[in-house]
Amino acid sequence: MPTLTRKKQSNPRASGRPAAELIFGDLWEFDPAPETADPKLKARYDLFINNKFVPPKSGKYFDSINPANEKKIAEIAYAQAADVDAAYAAAKKAYDTVWGKMPGKERAKYIYRIARLLQDRAREFAVAETIDGGKPIKESRDFDVPMAAAHFFYHAGWADKLDYVAPGRKVAPLGVVGQVIPWNFPLLMLAWKIAPAIAMGNCVVIKPAETTSITALKLGEIFQAAGLPPGVVNIVSGFGDTGAAIMTHPTAAKVAFTGSTEVGKIIMRSIAGTEKKMTMELGGKAANIVFDDAPIDQAVEGIVNGIFFNQGHVCCAGSRLLVHEPVAEAVLTKLKTRIKMLRIGDPLDKNTDIGAINSKEQLKTIQRLVAIGVKEGATMFQPKCDLPAKGYYFRPTVFSDVTMSHQIAREEIFGPVLSVLTFRTLDEAVEKANNTAYGLSAGVWTDKGSRILKMSTELKAGVVWANTYNKFDPTSPFGGYKESGFGREGGRQGLLDYCKLV
Ligand code: NAI
Ligand code: MG
Repeated sequence: MPTLTRKKQSNPRASGRPAAELIFGDLWEFDPAPETADPKLKARYDLFINNKFVPPKSGKYFDSINPANEKKIAEIAYAQAADVDAAYAAAKKAYDTVWGKMPGKERAKYIYRIARLLQDRAREFAVAETIDGGKPIKESRDFDVPMAAAHFFYHAGWADKLDYVAPGRKVAPLGVVGQVIPWNFPLLMLAWKIAPAIAMGNCVVIKPAETTSITALKLGEIFQAAGLPPGVVNIVSGFGDTGAAIMTHPTAAKVAFTGSTEVGKIIMRSIAGTEKKMTMELGGKAANIVFDDAPIDQAVEGIVNGIFFNQGHVCCAGSRLLVHEPVAEAVLTKLKTRIKMLRIGDPLDKNTDIGAINSKEQLKTIQRLVAIGVKEGATMFQPKCDLPAKGYYFRPTVFSDVTMSHQIAREEIFGPVLSVLTFRTLDEAVEKANNTAYGLSAGVWTDKGSRILKMSTELKAGVVWANTYNKFDPTSPFGGYKESGFGREGGRQGLLDYCKLV
């Protein structure tokens, strides 16, 4: 159990604050509680093609950095066109000779095995995920890894029931699919992409993001241990050019992408006119809407979870808070008090709430947009917490007095930065919420069931959470409208995007 130590200089009376205001992390502080499991890292990670780890043909590697301390963790193979060709050749052969022909109930056995092996090594994967990406260990341990395993379990369950995916119709796999994923949920996005694809009988070529390749390549070890037939899943690490080679490859029957809207558009242009199917899961700028009859304390927890979960590196993050005017001041006051209690620092510490920003580049993007917010005249609040001397960190930030014309209310910041706007009527809330290029998610906080139903009909968002936020489940389809993309992941709908009707 972590113990509490009294901080030296922090005396509430000396700081002029009334003694009744007890703020954790100020008067008292937790002793360090680092997670100590061995992530079993290798010094160098090769490409995973045809169930073997192979060096890239160019011999090129790049470094993966721990964003919490800027130290190099490992070298990652940089795949280029020739490696992507080899990966597609392996996938095509596996599809034509083994996987595409195997009965679903046989495929299911492999996928169940993958899920169980991932559970067996959950702690190791959680530590590796946190070291490579900067997210707090409590999130990789309690969310990313178990949820990744859940996606394999869920889709294993479908593999022998595919006749029920499209009632009255027969379904067939598409062939080989190419997939590119981002760095915010490296292992989980991998599971989201791979599990439905292979359950349906497709084979896969996938690329993790350049800052977070380690758990992807570690998953190759699990595929080996599960005895997955060679070539069913091929993992090729690299940069944007590697991703482009995967998306445009002639063998790909379908491509799936999760990442920025900007890159999504580049990919769509590059494959326009081909017969490739595609699904795109792109950016977001979700409204989290709090009505005056909402349970305020619960809503404040939901607001915090909505924007500070995973440092705000979440496509469906509740980055725009819309508060009903009668409760705006009360919500903002409680929110600030709550934010002062958040613990920012070492992602491996079990008590850390906000870990490291994923990369130096992302930190710069956040800093740039926050500076714009200040310049535009919004009122900024940040707690006065200490940040580690090394590593990429950013204080949780709340902007109030924001209007829809502010850039911070329109652009995806993808960091721990919340913009607060107010509204007077339900119609105004709907209009403001929908006044965005995106349409991925939204949250509604109210005591009234009818209002929840009304809002979930009116809001142009793929997911609308009611009196909760950032809840995920493999059975529940996820995806966007407008510039947030198209296609769904999860549930029966997600499987429909990996098959053809015959
Ligand atoms: P990105 O979209 O460039 O990266 C996502 C993935 O796409 C990575 O694996 C990357 O290597 C790959 N990629 C890059 N260029 C490509 C190309 N031309 N063809 C195929 N694949 C390509 O995102 P980035 O630059 O890391 O982040 C920039 C901003 O994008 C963030 O600040 C955030 O606002 C947004 N973003 C949104 C995500 C979401 O899930 N909504 C995820 C990641 C980033
Ligand atoms: Mg890294």
